[in-house]
Amino acid sequence: MVNCIEVRDLFFSYEDGTQALKGINLDIEKSTRVAILGPNGAGKSTLLLHFNALNLPQAGNVYVEDLEVTKKTEKLVRTKVGMVFQDPDDQIFSMTVREDVSFGPLNMGLSPEEVQARVDSALKAVRIEDLAEKAPYHLSYGQKKRVAIAGVLSMSPDIIILDEPFAYLDPRGKCSLLEILDDLSQKGKTVVIATHDVDLAAEWANRIVVIQNGKVLAEGDKSILIDPIVIEQADLEFPTVTKIFLEFPSHERERFPMTIKEAITRIKRMSNYYR
Ligand SMILES: Nc1ncnc2c1ncn2[C@@H]1O[C@H](COP(=O)(O)OP(=O)(O)O)[C@@H](O)[C@H]1O
Ligand SMILES: [Mg+2]
Repeated sequence: MVNCIEVRDLFFSYEDGTQALKGINLDIEKSTRVAILGPNGAGKSTLLLHFNALNLPQAGNVYVEDLEVTKKTEKLVRTKVGMVFQDPDDQIFSMTVREDVSFGPLNMGLSPEEVQARVDSALKAVRIEDLAEKAPYHLSYGQKKRVAIAGVLSMSPDIIILDEPFAYLDPRGKCSLLEILDDLSQKGKTVVIATHDVDLAAEWANRIVVIQNGKVLAEGDKSILIDPIVIEQADLEFPTVTKIFLEFPSHERERFPMTIKEAITRIKRMSNYYR
């Protein structure tokens, strides 16, 4: 497997002396769906900001597609990694949605035709073609979030980072964002999200990184989400589906379900068993 992000012994402190990252080591493989999980203050946002050079390592190294992230490489790094901030108001500045989504590709020096094509395709990817001429400040939170994502997609990065993308979205908004993220994965993009939502991580991710107090506490496939030691140490909870199954004595020594689909399969199997 090819790594597209590598983090080696990464340390980062803020000016007030807060040690936010205390020796992070991490590999992210190309085309994976990674959920970086951890409680508030664990260091998730601080870490993500290193992936597109908004933070630069104070000690240790970050590599993006074999390119070391430094002041010198920041522009190139940002063509490879697109970052969607938690708050879309930190990301949207223009008078219309189209103008906002054009900003990145215009800055890349592309031709007007190419810019237009990229903007149209980005708006389509997040299903907001009909909002192109609207003023972003008139839009709902969920719509703004899509504008911010379109702004990143228009630059066509291989790696897309989203900080708490599901926060404050209504259930419908969460569902359609999941579909958008699935589409990106299908196109072979690497998608990394930070979240404290274990249920979403269980449903969506195929790689889990748990961060606690500036360090990687655990890393691996989704079975981490039902590891009682990890969950307790990281101040997280089991996925809701798993909590239900923990109430039943397990007649088979197999993994507890953690997604709705897994639960349905298991319930069907259990009802056959008891018949
Ligand atoms: N700009 C800042 N100045 C000082 N401390 C900060 C700043 N941003 C974050 N921190 C601190 O760094 C630690 C990690 O924060 P953060 O990366 O935002 O965590 P998370 O995204 O997991 O909630 C926390 O202790 C937080 O209070
Ligand atoms: Mg954060």
